Order: sequence, then structure tokens, then C-alpha cells
Amino acid sequence: MADYQLPRTDGEARRLAIQSELLAEATETTLVAAGVARATSCIDIGCGTGDVMVAIAQRAPTARIVGLDLDTRPARARHGDRFELVTGDLFSASGAFDFVFSRYMLHHMADPAAAIAKMWELTEPGGTLAVVDIDQRGTTTYPLWEPYNKLEGHIRGLYERLGIDNFIGHKLPHLFERAGVGAPDGTEVIGVIRKVSELREFLPLLLDMVRDKLVANGVATTDEMRLLAADLATAGDQTSSYCYRPTAVGVWKQKPR
Ligand SMILES: C[S@@+](CC[C@H](N)C(=O)[O-])C[C@H]1O[C@@H](n2cnc3c(N)ncnc32)[C@H](O)[C@@H]1O
Repeated sequence: MADYQLPRTDGEARRLAIQSELLAEATETTLVAAGVARATSCIDIGCGTGDVMVAIAQRAPTARIVGLDLDTRPARARHGDRFELVTGDLFSASGAFDFVFSRYMLHHMADPAAAIAKMWELTEPGGTLAVVDIDQRGTTTYPLWEPYNKLEGHIRGLYERLGIDNFIGHKLPHLFERAGVGAPDGTEVIGVIRKVSELREFLPLLLDMVRDKLVANGVATTDEMRLLAADLATAGDQTSSYCYRPTAVGVWKQKPR
């Protein structure tokens, strides 16, 4: 059973929506390379705000698309005959789909190989499993803007303590093999660079996402959080520093018929 660590607030839904924009290229590239255009029955596992369901719908003109999540409220705005929302846990899911997709969920899983094996079970013969997930290691700013690097350092420390693997991106091909899926048919590694000032709304939301947990887990003090929040609030002034965001890794495999 899942133990999802992030908050379920309007701010977090907004953060996921901005993150979705940052991940749009990686998502689109992986969907297209994995052959989503051929899909007729899709499931987006851990659908969050449902942005990926819309991306799938745009590229798979006749597909029916299920969005599965422990909490489907952020995706309720997704209307249309082709969409169906299912509230539940991946590990209890059933059905057979010719396109199974999941973005930025595996790094929250205590046993990501077991999650991939379960996704493969939901993939019908001839269908494709595709995932996109994060590799946080390279993220930085240039010229260095300390508040960003401090925030990402705190997130790294927290996630290590919580057992969330934010470096999972480069491990995905091996995890496909370990899950019994086999070596992927293809991989994509996609990075994003934005001016820090363009991230002025995103960065405070990112801090909000982890602030209480950072303090509760002894990674940072309340005073440090207050100072960091004040620094991050000036992100809009950082018009000459560029942020290299964590890379997104896409991996996919077609199941033999
Ligand atoms: C970081 S969010 C990513 C959301 C979305 N895929 C995106 O990329 O915008 C991870 C999502 O996975 C969901 N989730 C976590 N564990 C799950 C599980 N065991 N079964 C179904 N959904 C799960 C969470 O509720 C959350 O919405």
C-alpha cells in the first residue's frame, strides 16, 4: 500500500501544474517515441492534475484514457467522454491497457521495481509501458544563486531520509530488467534550463511542499526556513542566473504478443 509523502493542498496542485509545463517536452517526446499514437486504451498511473491525460488525448485521437491516483480531486476538471478517473492504489489496480504510462510517481515508491512489475501486468500483449521520472543530481544554477542550491540540497537530504529516490531516472533501464520487463526499447534524457526569474512562482511552492517535513525530520530549522522563504521570494529579481532543472528520463518497452 502506498505512503505518499507530499501534501494535498491547492498550492501543491499549482506546483504540479507548473512542473507539468517544465516536463512537457520530456513527456511529449517520450509519448511520441513510445508510440502513443497507436494506443486505444490508456492508463496514466499517478495522474495528479491530469495534464498527462490531456497530452495523451492530443496524440492518441481515438483512445480511452483512465487516470488512476490515490487522490483524483486535482484531476476532476478533466471532462470528456474519453476520460475516466479511478481513485485507488496502483497495487490494487486491474485491467488491460495497450498504453500504460506513469510520470514522476516511481520515485515515491518504496519498491519501484515492484511498481514497474505491476504496471507491466496492466500492459496487454502488444501494448507498451512507458515511464518518465526524475534525476535530480545535476540540478544547479549559473551564475550560482545560493537559495536555489540550498533548497535543492535540503530536498535531497530530506528525500534520503524518507527513502524517496530522486536520482531514480538513470536507474530506470536497470529497474525495467529487475522488474521482469526486460531491457527498454528506448530511452530519452531531457533537461530544461530556465531563468531563475521565470521560476518565481514555482520555487516558493517547492519550498512549501517540503517545509514542514524539513523541520520535522531535522534537516532544517524553522529559522532557516523563514530566511530561505524570504530569499526565494526574490527569485523574480534573478534575471541573469539560469536554472538547470533536474533531468527527466523517459523509458519504454513494448510487450511481446
Ligand atoms: C509527484 S505526483 C506526479 C503527478 C503527475 N503524474 C504529474 O507528473 O504531474 C505523484 C502522484 O502519484 C500519486 N500516487 C502515489 N502513490 C500512488 C499509488 N500507490 N497509486 C496511485 N497513485 C499514487 C500521488 O497521489 C500523486 O498524485
